[in-house]
Amino acid sequence: MASGKGGVGKSTVSANLALALAAEGHTVGLLDADVYGPSQGLMMGVSEETQPEVADDLLQPISVHGIQVMSMSFVTSDRTPAIWRGPMASSALQQLLTQTNWQNVDYLIVDMPPGTGDIQLTMAQNVPLSGAIIVTTPQDIARLDACKGIEMFRKVEVPLLGIIENMSLHTCSVCGHQEAIFGTGGGEQIAQDYSTYLLAQLPLSMAVREQSDGGVPPVLSDPDGEVAPLFKQIAVAVHRQIEEVEKTTPTIRIVDD
Ligand SMILES: Nc1ncnc2c1ncn2[C@@H]1O[C@H](COP(=O)(O)OP(=O)(O)O)[C@@H](O)[C@H]1O
Ligand SMILES: [Mg+2]
Repeated sequence: MASGKGGVGKSTVSANLALALAAEGHTVGLLDADVYGPSQGLMMGVSEETQPEVADDLLQPISVHGIQVMSMSFVTSDRTPAIWRGPMASSALQQLLTQTNWQNVDYLIVDMPPGTGDIQLTMAQNVPLSGAIIVTTPQDIARLDACKGIEMFRKVEVPLLGIIENMSLHTCSVCGHQEAIFGTGGGEQIAQDYSTYLLAQLPLSMAVREQSDGGVPPVLSDPDGEVAPLFKQIAVAVHRQIEEVEKTTPTIRIVDD
């Protein structure tokens, strides 16, 4: 889950998509790769004191809402994040990914930090990603950043699964009037430009923010509400595409014999 820009909703989408895939019966891991501003602890309702257990030199993911979660915030203290810079952050992240004892996950959702710098590139290059989803908001300025993200994954040949436009229409909770606060058409345009899918347009909604930042994202707390069905739709579309990708890409298996 990536985007060139911060604050567009990557973490919100990652958390909700992870939950939607789990609700479809898949085993799901969620890696918070945003070393500078980890937010999955908050979004998945993991208390700040929680520390992963270590067994056989592997970190045990935190199990919450049926998802296996691992975040830099679980293994660093308040004072350490400032030292994570460039190569150090990249290697710390890779270590976090490979030394976590993920239990038979069908899907590992990686919530990326904003930007297309070293960490993102290292991650995209060194981790065998099945696909990338770009999250953007409808306005022009976000579009430019989203395109940078797409180009980055293209460079390292990670298939683009589609675009999610977040913070699209806002429906007034009092009068029902709909307004495009951040403009319209951004996601659609990117999808067209890059011949990919617009997986969903998610509304700008106070409930989404309250439920996500409150530790029980809308897919769980309001399964029949406005946004949960959209995440279900994204989960189904992503599953279908990943199946295609796996069919067409040869699996490379390194056997030690
Ligand atoms: N569709 C939405 N409607 C309202 N608030 C949202 C929506 N998507 C995300 N937010 C809120 O915006 C803030 C930034 O979202 P976040 O997912 O942390 O962005 P990012 O990971 O891209 O930096 C959070 O407080 C989140 O709850
Ligand atoms: Mg984030």
